[in-house]
Amino acid sequence: MTTLAPLPYSVQWADTHITLLNQQALPSITEFIELHSVDDVYDSILTLKVRGAPAIGLTAAFGVALGAKQETTSELGEFKKNVTRHIEKLASSRPTAVNLFWALKRMENTLQAAQSISTAKEALVSEAKAIFAEDEEMCRKIGEHGLSLFTRGDSILTHCNAGGIATARYGTALAPFHLAKERDFPLKVYACETRPVLQGARLTAWELMQAGVDVTLISDNMAAHTIHQKRINGIIVGADRIAANGDTANKIGTLGLAILAKHFGIPFYVAAPSSTFDLSIESGTSIPIEERNEAEITFIQGVRIAPENVKTFNPAFDVTPNHLITSIITENGIITPDFIKNIPHFVN
Ligand code: MRU
Repeated sequence: MTTLAPLPYSVQWADTHITLLNQQALPSITEFIELHSVDDVYDSILTLKVRGAPAIGLTAAFGVALGAKQETTSELGEFKKNVTRHIEKLASSRPTAVNLFWALKRMENTLQAAQSISTAKEALVSEAKAIFAEDEEMCRKIGEHGLSLFTRGDSILTHCNAGGIATARYGTALAPFHLAKERDFPLKVYACETRPVLQGARLTAWELMQAGVDVTLISDNMAAHTIHQKRINGIIVGADRIAANGDTANKIGTLGLAILAKHFGIPFYVAAPSSTFDLSIESGTSIPIEERNEAEITFIQGVRIAPENVKTFNPAFDVTPNHLITSIITENGIITPDFIKNIPHFVN
């Protein structure tokens, strides 16, 4: 079993609060912050102190448990109304990653099933812990399946950070690299920096270096040249929402990489747990794409790099159509096209 010794858990339940690895401070500062209220949890998701689809979902679940514990009313109806308000607030933090809504739905079902306030409080903590434990297990299995697709000595390109710090543990797209390291299975990883907020440069490079994985950082516009020059064998990315037909929303820039993979004739893999699938939508056109503050483009680390008042467009995600995806790696196995037909055999 993989231990990932150098990597801390990025989200931890501490009974009176949640302890969070502040991903905004990485890599220069490794700090853990304490979240003491639903507002703290909401703010940390909004400001990307915690980010990555599964981590957002499980942090929000702990946020609901925390909010419920802090309720002082003795009337069950009022308690449920107040906790529902917490759930609604957390659901409004970020729109694209479906894991958030999946986790909050589980918390809501747990809340509604409770017969008393004390059992509700206990059940909500248990449910959030279960979501966390399941995510860790799903990511470990994704790592196993993902690694089976690689050959010793392969060079693999990734985008954004779909790593251990974006999940309970191991990560999705980065899980095979962690397992490979543990097993002395040589792989070379190329990480795109991931503008505008540099999850690749700040987080993936940091995470893989902590784990001793051979990682090389490139800027986003170097991808085509690097794939060609360094004979990249494949591309693997995470996902924020996968529609019933396999169309996949992931960090902005993913679509361009999928097009490059097709051009160069290399496989393009998506790695995601079943909690990232949204089978209620037929295709990627229905996935809401978050647009974020213009300052993410016009500033880098607090320094203005573009003229004041320049017009900007800052979509945080793009959608890769299913025909550009070689396979989707889940905890239940590797899904290949025809995705519409095959996804229901792996995810329900
Ligand atoms: O805006 P972010 O940093 O939350 O975007 C994260 C991604 O796009 C990840 O690739 C995705 O959530 C998968 S994390 C396992």
